[in-house]
Amino acid sequence: MNLSADIQRVQHDVVVIGAGGAGLRAAIECADQGLNTGLVCKSLLGKAHTVMAEGGCAAALGNADPRDSWKVHFRDTMRGGKFLNQWKMAELHAKHAPDEVRLLEKWGAVFDRTKEGLIGQRNFGGHRYPRLAHVGDRTGLEMIRTLQDHAIHQGIHVHMECTALRIIKDGDKVSGVLAYWRETGRFILFECKAVILATGGGGKAWRITSNSWEYTGDGFELAYEAGAELVNMEFTQFHPTGMVWPPSVRGILVTEGVRGDGGVLLNSEGERFMFGYIPERFAAETADTEEEAERWLEGDKEARRPPELLTRDVVARAITKEVQEGRGSPHGGVFLDIASRRPAEIIKRKLPSMYHQFKELAEVDITKEAMEVGPTLHYFMGGIRVDSETQMTRVPGLFACGECSGGMHGANRLGGNSLSDLLVFGMLSGKHTVKYLEALDTTPSCNSGAIDAAIREATAPLRRDEGPNPYVVHEELQDLLNEGVNIVRNKEGLEKAVAEIAALKPQAETAKAHGSSQYNPGWHEAISLGPLFLTAEAVARAALVREESRGAHTRLDFPGEQKEWQEVHVVVRKGQGDSMEVLKEATADAPDELSKIARSTLEELEGAQE
Ligand code: FUM
Repeated sequence: MNLSADIQRVQHDVVVIGAGGAGLRAAIECADQGLNTGLVCKSLLGKAHTVMAEGGCAAALGNADPRDSWKVHFRDTMRGGKFLNQWKMAELHAKHAPDEVRLLEKWGAVFDRTKEGLIGQRNFGGHRYPRLAHVGDRTGLEMIRTLQDHAIHQGIHVHMECTALRIIKDGDKVSGVLAYWRETGRFILFECKAVILATGGGGKAWRITSNSWEYTGDGFELAYEAGAELVNMEFTQFHPTGMVWPPSVRGILVTEGVRGDGGVLLNSEGERFMFGYIPERFAAETADTEEEAERWLEGDKEARRPPELLTRDVVARAITKEVQEGRGSPHGGVFLDIASRRPAEIIKRKLPSMYHQFKELAEVDITKEAMEVGPTLHYFMGGIRVDSETQMTRVPGLFACGECSGGMHGANRLGGNSLSDLLVFGMLSGKHTVKYLEALDTTPSCNSGAIDAAIREATAPLRRDEGPNPYVVHEELQDLLNEGVNIVRNKEGLEKAVAEIAALKPQAETAKAHGSSQYNPGWHEAISLGPLFLTAEAVARAALVREESRGAHTRLDFPGEQKEWQEVHVVVRKGQGDSMEVLKEATADAPDELSKIARSTLEELEGAQE
């Protein structure tokens, strides 16, 4: 039977999948340049992980410190990413971020101000100068609000509560997207000439995460099945500070802005333990003078930048160690104290969401007491492999931007670089989609065989008589990843995780959803197991291959960065049949000029605005 014959069809030039910051920015760029643009989102417009980047958007505006420049931002990003970043992406990011922030302000974003009336910038880990343009601790929310308002006035067609299932191709080129409406269960085919994936990450594969229900790795699966590659999947970022108590809110983000504004981390003995975790190399590379580096290493509490603002990988590992060694808080975290460091009215003004979040969810008044916090899976540095300049994958007409794309952040992302990343690469993917369409000489068509196969696969959980409960399978996956693919890893644990994922996968593939396709969360859950398992397998297998510790990927059996891995990317792609290929590939040579900037001293870069 030809299932595709009577499904709903809608035509657009380009379909953007995902309506967080990256998707909105990409859609605005496309619509602005005259494309008929469809924006598909699984959830309601504005409900996106972008809002979990609370503390700010990194851009070298130089408002808080005039010594800042794109070069210093680029240098910090490369160092934070342990030099595994795509050089060109890091350069484009640092160069375009200030203009993107100014554009956002022009579109109506109301940033906090300096005394002089400029956009205010706060400190964050790994950034040499205060660089994060912010709106209290609701920066991502303000950005989404602004982009959303602007987007709907551009005539973009928004398709809400609609889940993308398959990219459809004509030969090797993109020709459409098959999706379904979550309410009615009916299928829809978007016929289009290009697709931009902006689906965010896959944090929901883990038990403790700052991600909400939408983040099941959909973009990774859509791209992989269409023939694109994934890169750097082993680098998953555990944000050091998520809530740990009560259990129902475990993992919810506690912004780095708390530490940026003076909050300190304490163990159960009341000790500011981060002084014991400053890597010597970091001190030497980051301090202005040898004297400052020594002061840090000696634990000088008055040193200019606190060790709580070391990069996230370092802080998350330190917290894990404190807890493992018995110096944790009552519920398995550590203490984050701003109450004794800043007056109550400043805390309430600068961190209003944190104040309400703790008051309402944990009955803790953060102006009087310390918070209990611990690491939470927050972000994927890895993702869909794209061309650094165009953001196109190796599939013609398939683009990716924001968290679902990989390469920009290397082995570890600096806080605040996600919001600037999604603006810059959302904009660039839109621009290059326009160019791609200008050069396209035929209109690709959608093949009914591929559509029928995808519909059959999606409805299988409804048609089978019995099968495992998809919620239970999902929970088992979360537990095994939390156990074997966590902040610190080793061969034994990773091999076990890979074997357990393989053993559990048949259950995911035969899961049963009861009831009909209308208003059926059990069916949505069964469908999301596909991308969740793909994400889990890609991360676990890439982590097993990379035999070194770099940035957010810590192998207890291979401590430290290894020279032979410095210029290697782990690439994941679809092999024959159902197999997954995991390959080691040499990275492109670093351009001389950029390499020189990344390795320069601050004195050499001072005032370098060009
Ligand atoms: O801590 C935060 O506010 C998160 C920011 C980010 O992930 O960029």
